[in-house]
Amino acid sequence: MQYAESRDARELPDNEFLADVILGLSQDQKTLSPKYFYDQQGSEYFDEICDLQEYYPYRTELAMLPTVAQDLGNYFTGNAPRGLEIVEFGAGSLRKVGALLRSLQNVRSFTAIDISEAHLISACRVLESQYRELSIHPCVHDFTKPLSLHPSERTRLGFFPGSTIGNFTPQQASVFLRNAGTTLGTGSFLLIGVDTQKPPTILNQAYNDPKGITAKFNKNVLERINRELDGNFKLHNFAHHAFYNETVGRIEMHLRSLKEQQVNIAGHTIEFSRGESIHTENSYKFKPDDFTELARQSGWVKHHLWLDSDKLFAVYLLQYAH
Ligand code: AVI
Repeated sequence: MQYAESRDARELPDNEFLADVILGLSQDQKTLSPKYFYDQQGSEYFDEICDLQEYYPYRTELAMLPTVAQDLGNYFTGNAPRGLEIVEFGAGSLRKVGALLRSLQNVRSFTAIDISEAHLISACRVLESQYRELSIHPCVHDFTKPLSLHPSERTRLGFFPGSTIGNFTPQQASVFLRNAGTTLGTGSFLLIGVDTQKPPTILNQAYNDPKGITAKFNKNVLERINRELDGNFKLHNFAHHAFYNETVGRIEMHLRSLKEQQVNIAGHTIEFSRGESIHTENSYKFKPDDFTELARQSGWVKHHLWLDSDKLFAVYLLQYAH
């Protein structure tokens, strides 16, 4: 296993995390970027969310992947003469790429990009033990930022499952898609999972599970600030709040202050009024035509679209045509 090169330093500099936190908590609507959920503990909570019955995106997409992979296998058999390189953005626990590796015969290498180093390396080790012939390259990098990959003669297939694209604003999504196109190169492919719009009850249940795992996942960002930035958030003074905002088609997650309070972070004092919230995540849900148009405006052409029978989740094969 060899680290892939990344233009960024391998570790996120502490001061960048601190600067983002202080800036975000100084806005009228306090915000924290969802990318800070994913330290080791947050990544483990996210894995637990994926196992919840209420959280339909994970299991729906996973159930679709064998069919998707079989169709891809048929397509790439004649269309990738030098083999395939899969590049996964925000690889996490690598629970989904196995479905592709099992069906695609000509995958020669796999580059896994993720911000959480310990989690990425242990996931890559497991994959390595299962696919001994595969050349695996972990790349510790913030995948929201541009990245130059080693040159490759193989056909590149980007993989961005789980509707993580929905955690960006539409403008950020477009920037991500353009950056991914530049990283992968003209003519490359991107297999991307995108959550669909559906009745609010299903959506609200998915982000308000009765076991409270999503609440723990949300609050972990405060614990992380306490751990890494010498903060003193009292977790019991904040409540998880998630709801579907139908006007903009997104789930919003917030942490609501249950009282008037002050919090100190590395010498900075942040004031909270009772009921004030920190906006921690958006999760956009797309109508298929709207996502196809967003991709088109960002340089990608739709090759194929798979939907499950209940239209809960969509998987697109796009090609970079820029
Ligand atoms: C990673 N991302 C696509 C998840 C989502 O559904 O937006 C994160 C998540 N937040 C709460 N539950 C899951």
